[in-house]
Amino acid sequence: MNKLIVNGKNKLYGKVDVKSAKNAMLPLIAACVLLDFEVGFLNCSKVGDVTVMLDIIKCLGGKYRYEDDTLFVDCSSLYIPELPCELSKKIRASVFLLGPLLARFRKVSAVTPGGCNFGDRPIDMHLDALRKLGAEISGKEHLYLRADKLEGAKITLPFPSVGVTENLIMAACLAEGETVILNAAKEPEIICLCSFLNRLGAKITGAGSYKIVIQGVKKLTKKITYFKPISDRIEVGTYLLATLNTGGEIEINGANFIHNVAFIKKIYNNACKIAFESDKIYLKCCGVGNGLGLVKTAPYPSFPTDLQSPLLAYACSLNGKTVIEEGVFKNRFSIVNELRKMGAMIEVSGTKAIVLGTNFLTGAILNACDLRSGAGLIIAALGAEGVSEIVGVDVIERGYFEIDKKLKLLGADVSKG
Ligand code: EPZ
Repeated sequence: MNKLIVNGKNKLYGKVDVKSAKNAMLPLIAACVLLDFEVGFLNCSKVGDVTVMLDIIKCLGGKYRYEDDTLFVDCSSLYIPELPCELSKKIRASVFLLGPLLARFRKVSAVTPGGCNFGDRPIDMHLDALRKLGAEISGKEHLYLRADKLEGAKITLPFPSVGVTENLIMAACLAEGETVILNAAKEPEIICLCSFLNRLGAKITGAGSYKIVIQGVKKLTKKITYFKPISDRIEVGTYLLATLNTGGEIEINGANFIHNVAFIKKIYNNACKIAFESDKIYLKCCGVGNGLGLVKTAPYPSFPTDLQSPLLAYACSLNGKTVIEEGVFKNRFSIVNELRKMGAMIEVSGTKAIVLGTNFLTGAILNACDLRSGAGLIIAALGAEGVSEIVGVDVIERGYFEIDKKLKLLGADVSKG
């Protein structure tokens, strides 16, 4: 069955290793389309979305393999610039392939992507940006993109979109001339992608800032054997919140504190002690925290939207009020109705969720509507009285590898049903 059964109130104690970030791996795999040799990515976990992205690469004629936790991707034999419909509909990140495929083949056909269902998720900005590089685009549900050549341009993004910035960077690497991206996304995953591409011979400056400049080159020719992606900052935040919600203690290995500053500022010294080293974060709980006041999600370096649902779940058990304002997506509060089944007191008004903390949530039968709200339900269930059944663990495993095993090792009473 596709369920996670959680018997709450066990404190989490122990260590957990986080691996390469799902949201870094997905654009890195797409960037392999620009290469005619194999590259190995270190410290990878087989999360669901990465597997789907790799299967799409296989459908295009590419190859991949694992050696332990090193993922090797080889796009030298790619020959079909047509994204497979069924697989593309499974993940939003299939859209990240448009730019590199256009750069390599000067044509690509695709369907609009799928992914987490929290409201409307258009790809208009992706298409507008590629048009500005010279792409001609036709079709609605089925898209056909072609370009006699890609020419650098100055492009101001209407919103610092992570995926649009990544798509544009990959296409512009092989465009003629200079591309300037203004209002670019600044996420660590952008810096990671640009570091990878520059190692291969791309000429990108400004990654992580408002303005990214790409000097197009004919080909990416610098062969590298291995690349180590950044660790998963959202997975780090999720395990910290799970520990907080059970009153335990955790050491997270592979965590980059800098990537989580906005999140840690919100939980710091609120009934917990936090310490860190270059690639470790320690957290020890000391009681039940107070309400968090106002938490607004926004593009990096602000509080990440992907930790909004996990934080909302944690806020249900605090002493006092937390107001969460979602500033990136229009409708990302699918977790609220599920938490109400556990006794949570939450009012939603527009893009705000007002959480009145109570120390008493009880287990219930819950549905994981999307990846991060599913993770939030696990956090709530771990701290609740009694047993919860979370239906849709496959949705959660799109971004959290073996989360049941990791939680069990930390002392949680969880099992797959
Ligand atoms: C990336 O999605 C992440 N996914 C998301 O993580 C993350 O929530 C999001 O960035 C914001 O940080 C991956 O990296 C694979 P956006 P992306 O384009 O690029 C609107 C997870 O849980 N928009 O930055 O798709 C959009 O609707 C996932 O791991 C348009 O209107 O997000 C949203 O309101 C969920 N038109 C805003 O921009 C477009 O063409 C930001 O979205 C593109 C985006």
